[in-house]
This record gives sequence, C-alpha cells and structure tokens, in this order.
Amino acid sequence: MSTYTRIKGTKDIFGEEVKYWEYIENTAKKLFKIYGYKEIRTPLIEKTELFSRGIGQETDIVQKEMYTFDDKKGRSLTLRPEGTASVARAYIENSLITFGSPQKLFYIGPMFRYEKPQAGRYREFYQIGAEIFGTDHPLADAELITFVYDFFNKLKLSNFKVKINNIGTFESREKYKEVLKTYYQPLLPNLCEDCQRRFNTNIMRLLDCKIDVEAAKNAPSILDYLDEESREHFNNLQKYLKAYNVPYQVDPKIVRGLDYYTKTAFEVEHSDMGEQAVIAGGGRYDDLVEQLGGPKTPGVGFAIGIERVIEALKRENVEVESESKIDVYVAFQGEKGEMAAVTLSKELRKKGINTYLNISKRNLSGQFKHANRLNAKYVVVIGEEEISRDIVTIKNMKSGEQTQIERNWVSEIIVEKLREE
Ligand code: HAM
Repeated sequence: MSTYTRIKGTKDIFGEEVKYWEYIENTAKKLFKIYGYKEIRTPLIEKTELFSRGIGQETDIVQKEMYTFDDKKGRSLTLRPEGTASVARAYIENSLITFGSPQKLFYIGPMFRYEKPQAGRYREFYQIGAEIFGTDHPLADAELITFVYDFFNKLKLSNFKVKINNIGTFESREKYKEVLKTYYQPLLPNLCEDCQRRFNTNIMRLLDCKIDVEAAKNAPSILDYLDEESREHFNNLQKYLKAYNVPYQVDPKIVRGLDYYTKTAFEVEHSDMGEQAVIAGGGRYDDLVEQLGGPKTPGVGFAIGIERVIEALKRENVEVESESKIDVYVAFQGEKGEMAAVTLSKELRKKGINTYLNISKRNLSGQFKHANRLNAKYVVVIGEEEISRDIVTIKNMKSGEQTQIERNWVSEIIVEKLREE
C-alpha cells in the first residue's frame, strides 16, 4: 500500500465506473443544447464571503461544511460548496446581461462540503447544474423542472418523484416563521438537537428534519401564508407543468437547505435510495444577484448530484454501455508488420474508427489475449505471412470468424462491417 491515500470523502473514478459518468454527462450536455443552454465554467475557489453572503450565514453549509483556508496573503478562500453563488458572481462580474436576457447557463463539476461521509454523501461530489437569470416568469421554473424530469427519463430512471413547493418572498415568509415558532414552542423540549438549534436560527428547516418527522406532520403549511404574487406564481407553475405533462406532487415541507430561495422550491426524490434520496434540488432566488452587489435580477436554477444518480441507476439495474468501446485492435509481427500497422492505425483513426494499436512487446498470441481483455470487436493482424502477400487477417472476436483481405481495402471493409452491426 502506498503511503499516500485519498482524502476521506473523496474518490477515484476509473474502470467500469467511468461509463456511468460518460452516460450521465453526455446525456446532460445533449439535453442542455436541446433546451438552449450555454455552458459556464467558474473557478473552484472563491472568496469565502461570496458563499457566506450568498448561501446564508445560518445555513449548515456556511456554519460547518465549508473548506475554508487563508492563502499566502491571508485572504480567506473557500472551495465552492455549490455552484449558484459562483455563477451569480460571474453573471455580475462579466455583465452577462449584455449578452441578452434571460441568460440560460449550465455547469458540470465538483463541489466540496465537509460533511460526514456516508453512502451518497461525499466531501467532494459532482453536480450538473443550471441557472436562468433575468426572468421571473413561472415558465422558466416550469422549463427547468421539465428539463430535470426529461433528463431522468432519458437516463431510463423510473423510481423518482418531483416534489414542488412555494416558500414565498422573504417578507411573506417572516409572517409564516412567527406562526411556525408558535407551533413548535411547546414541542421544543422533546425535539432533536438540530431542531433545537435551528428553532432560533432557521426555523423552517425543522419541517424537513429526518428525526422529528411526527412534529412536522401537523405543522402549519407555508402555502396558507403565501402573498398574492407567490400564490399566483405557484398556480401558473403548476399550469405549465401540466401542459408539459410532468407529474409532480405539492409538498409544503420542501424548504431547502440554502437561504437564497424565494417562491419556487423543488426536489426530486428517488425511492430506492434510503437516507440520501434527494437526487436533485433547486428553486428560485429573486434577491441573490442584488444581495451580491448586482442589479435587481430574478433567477432560478437546480443542481443534480451525479454520484446519487449513479447509485439510482445501479439500484434500478439500468444497463449502461461504455461509450468508449474499441472497434479494432491492430496486432502485428516483425519490423515490416510494425510499420504497416502504424500506417493502417493512422488510416483507421482518420476514418473515426476507435483503434487500439499494440504498443507493447507482446507476441501475436499475447496481442490476441490483450484484445480480448479490452473487449475489441475486431482484431486486424499484420504478420509475416500477411506482409508477404500484402493482405491482412481480420478476426471478428465475437463470432470467431476470420477473413483475409487486401491491405488497401481494410479500412473501407471495417467501416462497412461496423455499419452493418
Ligand atoms: P443542494 O440541494 O445543496 O442544492 O445540492 C443539489 C444536489 O447535490 C443534491 O440534491 C444532491 O443530489 C447533491 N449533493 C449535495 N450534497 C452532496 C454530498 N455531500 N454528496 C453527494 N451529493 C450531494 C444546491 O447545491 C443548489 N446550488 C441548487 C440550485 C441551483 N438551486 C438553484 N440553483
């Protein structure tokens, strides 16, 4: 064992695991194009203040989960725990509004949270996220939720549910928080430690406590305390979701763990996942850009947790094919065979055929074993006999069938064979 090991809560992604990452990321990128999103990449480190101001001083993320350190000049920096604050910062800093409004942006990348590692909960994890800036129209919220629904369907997941809520504006929520405090006050001595702490700092989080579920059951619903504008927004969102044919459930207990949300909040839950069942979450944040020093700009977005989606695919036994299959393994023997193999590999690759040229000192039978191990569809052999007759031997690794053909025609014939499959 090496002296160097991974940091707790992080992982190496390799081998069979990679096909899931390719499948998910490629599906997302294709779908983002279909929906008209542009990619944005922001730095992994930002000034700490961006997150404490953006996500909220009293949230678990800011209170206890950030990877924060001082750089050599004593400036406090933080590894991004999520994408929204960074993308909002980039939107303001680069005046993205000048490229038109609304802006529809997506990102895929790692996030960092110092949480207790367990199944589905990592310290470095990947999100696929999207943010829309510059429209408060509920069509934007509906489109985002539809995207997430479409995406999980495209991945061939079935056991998931979209849950939506509206948590009002900051003003209307103040009134509701008072009502909630009155409800929880007499129950407080019997509630868990987290609930006791959050009673004063973040009362709405008591609603999604995993321990005190019973207490939350009879709690007053935020939906009875919504301001007129939020109520109308919520009604319209549901109207559009119905038009998009997206099944959803209204759940007034969806409150989210970040402070920037206004009006829409939503989550997607997977039923086979145990404790870490939330595979995506998002909502509207109409005050965030202004809070970060930008012009008043409404926003809405979501993030999907890639590791959790992989787990969901595995639990549902969804078959995922590797996208990087080897079409042809080029095997050779002798010096002349080697040179002919190099030329042929170049030609095959130019035609877009996934080609693996033997680059080790293996004999022919070793090269066949290697090709087998790599799951190559065909092996093209250029040995001494082939050189002397100016031919190659092609072996179909699945059927075992072997044919000999003129060297000049190899790439055309292979393209043909692959097309026929
Ligand atoms: P979030 O709910 O904190 O929202 O994270 C979104 C998703 O990331 C979660 O639903 C979960 O699937 C995944 N996730 C979160 N923490 C972990 C972890 N420790 N390990 C593995 N997966 C995790 C946000 O981050 C918001 N920025 C979403 C958003 C975008 N809202 C508006 N725009």
